[in-house]
Amino acid sequence: MSRPETGTDDGGPSELIEQTGAALDEGQYPLAITNNRDLYELELRRVFGRAWVYLGHVSEFAEPGDYARRYIGEDPFIVTRDENGELHAFLDSCMHRGAQFCTAESGNTSHFRCPYHGWTYKNDGSLQGMPHMAEAYQDLDEEEISLEEAHLDTHQGLVFGRIADEGPSLREYLGDFAWYLDLLFGTTAEGMTVVGEPHRWESDHDWKTSADNFSGDSYHVLTTHQAGLETENLSRGPWEELDDFPGASYLACTDRHSIGYYLSEDEGTFMGYPEEIEEYLNPDLSDEQRDLFSRSVFHFGTVFPNMSIIHGIQSGGWGGPWACIRKWNPRGPGTTETTSWWLVPKELAGDESFLEDSHRGWESLSPGGAFESDDLTIWEGISDSSGAVTHELRDTRGNMQQGMGAMSDEVETMDDPIHGPAEVTSKGLYFDERNSRTILRSWYEMMREETPATDGGTAGRAAGEVDCGADCGTGGGPEGET
Ligand code: FES
Ligand SMILES: [Fe+2]
Repeated sequence: MSRPETGTDDGGPSELIEQTGAALDEGQYPLAITNNRDLYELELRRVFGRAWVYLGHVSEFAEPGDYARRYIGEDPFIVTRDENGELHAFLDSCMHRGAQFCTAESGNTSHFRCPYHGWTYKNDGSLQGMPHMAEAYQDLDEEEISLEEAHLDTHQGLVFGRIADEGPSLREYLGDFAWYLDLLFGTTAEGMTVVGEPHRWESDHDWKTSADNFSGDSYHVLTTHQAGLETENLSRGPWEELDDFPGASYLACTDRHSIGYYLSEDEGTFMGYPEEIEEYLNPDLSDEQRDLFSRSVFHFGTVFPNMSIIHGIQSGGWGGPWACIRKWNPRGPGTTETTSWWLVPKELAGDESFLEDSHRGWESLSPGGAFESDDLTIWEGISDSSGAVTHELRDTRGNMQQGMGAMSDEVETMDDPIHGPAEVTSKGLYFDERNSRTILRSWYEMMREETPATDGGTAGRAAGEVDCGADCGTGGGPEGET
């Protein structure tokens, strides 16, 4: 694939970026930004080269030597836990000739040996040695050679990596959204754990489309998923309790990220988890977080750029409750590889009956489930049509105006303390697209900045100072410009 010069403003892409910023003020956006080759190349650099990108969960790297292949943009990184218990993310590219040194998706190893000429690296990224080192590399300072490493930090067990040297710390990047992540991934005292291997599948849709959808698009549900909703048996389980469902919905948008949630009036809902969940609740949760969780039915959100969350209630037809993390890996213009992790509270990880129901819930949103194929068909169509030259030549605008100005009297700004820090609106599923505007605004803010420069080769060494034993908590990452 040819890669255009980046960091320069060359007319087309730059103009589209600026048009997006201006159009968003009116609740619109150029449809041509979806599945756009030139913009895609800039996204890899300006969004994925700059943002904190989700890489996995600490429970996947429980033991020294555990590793898995994960991506920042299209770049293949290997997340490892070294022998001292620290987490790293190394680019899978040997420092000799650039060969990929890791051939498996995941596993456990203390060393990686490059298959080309045999250079060997420890799982902390340092060079261990190479064949004929004493004879052939007499003057080599092996201390100077180590794998290229991303900055890495964690929050509530969520592992994030960043390529750029400069930028906000992870905690600053998450901002007020951390309140919601603390609730969703620090629900119980022991936290969440990933069960099994994540699922992966590829589809011909733009990563932005699914990041937008999961950020709070309830509007599509009764149209896109109408057939699925009619065939699934929703008449059992806590759904029954929701007299006004699906009316009790909220959107919480911080300056970068967005989450939607449905609440019941019943304070004992707890998403339909087994009743022991109340004993397991994390004592660090605030009263507001606890109250919100006790009434929770469904959460779905997006941490910009490409991590999404979906956490659903137990229901007769669907199974559940289930928590899922999605990652929308860009794989070319208009192409995305989705990774889907299933998580449960650690305290319930041995409860077979709960696991069976929870797994069924997770599977209901997978390529084999009724709902995923509904979405994929639509998203692929968006990618197909949005790449149309017609949109580019006619400067066609898509619409995200729900909830703006005089569009709806129904949207109400909430200051009820049960909601976290964010601009929270209610009510109704269909009257606010603030979530979409938030996510696209984040895209615009990153795309309008020049491609970030790095000083090369030092990223991980700074991040490696962070102790990532079980969870780095909120501390950590490098700080700089915001
Ligand atoms: S490319 Fe890895 S040892 Fe030569
Ligand atoms: Fe959907």
